[in-house]
Amino acid sequence: AVGNPNNIFWQECPVGKAERQKLLNQKGCVVWITGLSGSGKSTLACLMTRELHSRGKLSYVLDGDNLRHGLNKNLGFSAEDRTENIRRVGEVAKLFADAGLICIASLISPYRKDRDACRAMLPDSNFIEARDPKGLYKLARAGKIKGFTGIDDPYEAPLNCEIELKEKDGGCPTPAAMAGQVVSYLEEKGFLQ
Ligand code: PPS
Repeated sequence: AVGNPNNIFWQECPVGKAERQKLLNQKGCVVWITGLSGSGKSTLACLMTRELHSRGKLSYVLDGDNLRHGLNKNLGFSAEDRTENIRRVGEVAKLFADAGLICIASLISPYRKDRDACRAMLPDSNFIEARDPKGLYKLARAGKIKGFTGIDDPYEAPLNCEIELKEKDGGCPTPAAMAGQVVSYLEEKGFLQ
């Protein structure tokens, strides 16, 4: 019957992830960049994809802001909508990783449970905590935007992320240095071969 989930069956494809990875000479994975608005997530994602590209590795950036122009244009910033936003991007990221790409997801993704749900469906995922430059919240602080992450809506930082990008010894690494840190991590873990 139409609409009966019991009538949906998984179709096997003759070419699998392992074959695609061999073709691309890399391992499909998801680097999930989480952090407050304006913390540098998109900048980091762009630098990472440029660096990977220059090394001959295929990557693709899933940027929260950009996806809200299309796939997620019907979603707002309520807790339910953010959860659905992250779920959809997690599913898309999973497909990109299965395609053999290094998928860089860059979203605030403020709720730990939503990121954990993505992690559960993405065994090779990496969570990266972005830095948070101060002073970018003037509008929200002035009460001109309601439900803004970090002002009157919560942000739950990762408890066990693979890579933490933040100030060290009072100094802040450059965005390029941070991108290099993530790419080195991927290299060490064997994703670039
Ligand atoms: S989320 O929380 O992961 O669903 O958000 P995301 O899809 O990454 O979208 C974040 C960008 O939307 C803009 N924006 C807001 N952010 C947080 N809270 C509220 N209420 C809000 N309204 C609009 C904001 O510019 C975010 O962009 P970035 O690039 O993160 O600064």
